[in-house]
Formats: sequence, C-alpha cells, structure tokens
Amino acid sequence: FSLKDYNTFGIAAKAKTFVEITNEEELKEVLKQVYASELFVLGGGSNCLFTKDFEATVLHINLKGKQVVHETEDEVFLKVNAGENWHELVLFCVENNYGGMENLSLIPGQVGTSPIQNIGAYGVELKDVFAECEAIHMQTLEKRIFTKEECKFGYRNSIFKNEIKGEYIITSVTFQLTKNNHQLKTGYGAILNELDKKGISDPSIKDISDVVIAIRQQKLPNPKEIGNSGSFFKNPIVSAAAFNKLQEKFPEVPSYQISEKEIKVPAGWLIDQAGFKGYRDGDAGIHKHQALVLVNYGEATGEDLLNLAKLIQQKIQKKFEIFLEMEVNIIK
Ligand code: EPU
Repeated sequence: FSLKDYNTFGIAAKAKTFVEITNEEELKEVLKQVYASELFVLGGGSNCLFTKDFEATVLHINLKGKQVVHETEDEVFLKVNAGENWHELVLFCVENNYGGMENLSLIPGQVGTSPIQNIGAYGVELKDVFAECEAIHMQTLEKRIFTKEECKFGYRNSIFKNEIKGEYIITSVTFQLTKNNHQLKTGYGAILNELDKKGISDPSIKDISDVVIAIRQQKLPNPKEIGNSGSFFKNPIVSAAAFNKLQEKFPEVPSYQISEKEIKVPAGWLIDQAGFKGYRDGDAGIHKHQALVLVNYGEATGEDLLNLAKLIQQKIQKKFEIFLEMEVNIIK
C-alpha cells in the first residue's frame, strides 16, 4: 500500500498493512489486536517525513464529526473529532462567526494532531483556543481528558511530544471560541500590511482569515502542487549573549525577544543567508519564496530530504554557530 497520498511531502513509502478507522469501536478493536509498539498512528501526514517503508501497521485516524457541547451568550465550546480537516474547521468557524481560529487558516493537517505540536501562525497558537482534548491510551484503552494545563503547551511543543510520547491517540479536541467581542490578533506585520493594502481598518474575523490565506498562498507552497511539510525547522532560541555576537557579525539579523535572556532568530533568514533559497538537488529542494520550507518536486525520497536537512544543519552550524532543530517528525 503506497502512502504517497497520505503525507503532504508526497513520499511514496509503502506500508505492509494499512488500517483506517472511522469510529472509536474500530479503534479499540485495532488496539486490542495490534501491540502499540507495532502501530504507526497517522493523522493528516502534514508534519512527518517517511524515510523508509513501514514494518509497522499504519493506522489512519479518520474520526469525523463536530458538535457544540456548551454555549453561553459570549462563548461556544465546540468538540471536534480528530479526523476533521483543520482548515475546513477554521472556515466553518469563520462562517458561523466563532472567533479565535482565523489566524490559523490554511494550516494543513487534521484536528487530532494539532495539539501535539501546538500548531501556530501569525501570533496565535492552538493553546489560545484549546479547552481540552480526549485521548485513548494505546495499551489500557482507557479514555482520558487532558486539560490545557495538563498538555504543557510550548512553542511547537506539548506533553504529547515528551513525557507521554506515543502513548495516547487523541480522538477529539474541544475548542473555546468567542461569539462576540472577538479578540482579534492583527499585530503581526504581514497581517497589518495586507489589511492596509485592502483599506480595511476595522477587520472582521473573515477579513483576517482571508488575509492569512492570501499571505500563506504567496509564501508557502501548496502541498497539493509541491510536496512539503511547512516549516521544516523550528526557529532557534538563543541566549542574549549569543545573539549579541551574531548581531555584531550580521547587523541586519531579524529577531523576536522571548524573555530578557532569550531571543528567537528566524531559521528561514539563516538558511536564506547561507544561500540555500531555491536550492535543488534532484527532486529535493528548498522553496524559492521561503527558505524554511523543504520541498519534494516529485520523486524525492525521505532519505534525499533528510540528507538535505542535515546539510543545512551543518552549514548553519558552521556559518552562525547555531543548531537548527528539525520541527518535522522524522520517521525511521
Ligand atoms: N526570512 C528570510 N528569508 C526566508 C524566509 C524568512 O529572510 O526565506 C525572514 C523574513 O523576512 C522574516 C523572518 O525571516 O523577517 C520570519 O519569516 P516569516 O514571517 O515568514 O515566519 P517564519 O519565522 O519563517 C513562522 C512559523 C510558520 C508560521 C509563520 C507565521 C515556525 C518554525 N514557523 O515562520 O509556521 O506560519 O511564522 O506566523 O515557527 C509551520 O510551522 O509549518 C509554519 C509555516
């Protein structure tokens, strides 16, 4: 079974056994029959790089459905099953005037995997709209609710990538959204520019969603056309001392202050400065408009892309003395 259509990089890795579940009973049946260690859980396949064929059974989570579980005059709690498409959910919220999700428009992937790396864009992270999620323990089959605090969200990080990695399957996420008095996040430079261009001074959540879609379409390749996984690396966080040293050598380096002692440097800028933007070796390459995005022009293998990523890591280490951590999950 080829997984080419099940990962946004379009890697043609093969699985001996592929199982798709559409309800929780089916999921529990699979978990009873197959050891957790022999399963690979696949959501939208938008943040992983397959580097070889699978010995494990590939389990595709395709739980659909959503419902309002609680509503007040000002807020709505929307429970969404893990297999729903992320962007379609954002559009549904915008259409229904549920506020909070609009900055997260056009992110590829499924709802169930969004908490794992606390997806984020344009000044908003998943944690800002997250109320709780339900997950099934892969060995005991017990269902558990994780509150926002329990998820320990950080920058592209959560408990699901650390302490309990690989132990649970998230089956639904409940979002806390506004019905009025929307807290719009327009502070991100690119959003302000686009709103300005369109002459919008009092934006609606639909305006913001439209603008974010336009920005992403300009900068990021559409995975349906060119295989990719969005940002391949995390933006590195360096100490103030290291940053000062860097700034002496490269005065134009962009940065965001995280705390008194920590500064985030855009990996895309570093990779761009190292001359990689638009680089191509066979079918593995670096996007021409955004150096943070590795792309598959067609037949690249996971190994090809991983080798390119390692080459970038080496060059950046040498030129800037900064280690770039991969954001994409490398599946070995
Ligand atoms: N830059 C360059 N050259 C490039 C790319 C970027 O010089 O090729 C510079 C830009 O000029 C800008 C800075 O780097 O000064 C930051 O670039 P940008 O605003 O495009 O954002 P980013 O840091 O590259 C992050 C997220 C994206 C998210 C955007 C918007 C990470 C790893 N990436 O990108 O997330 O959409 O901000 O919020 O945090 C993703 O995770 O897949 C993703 C796309």
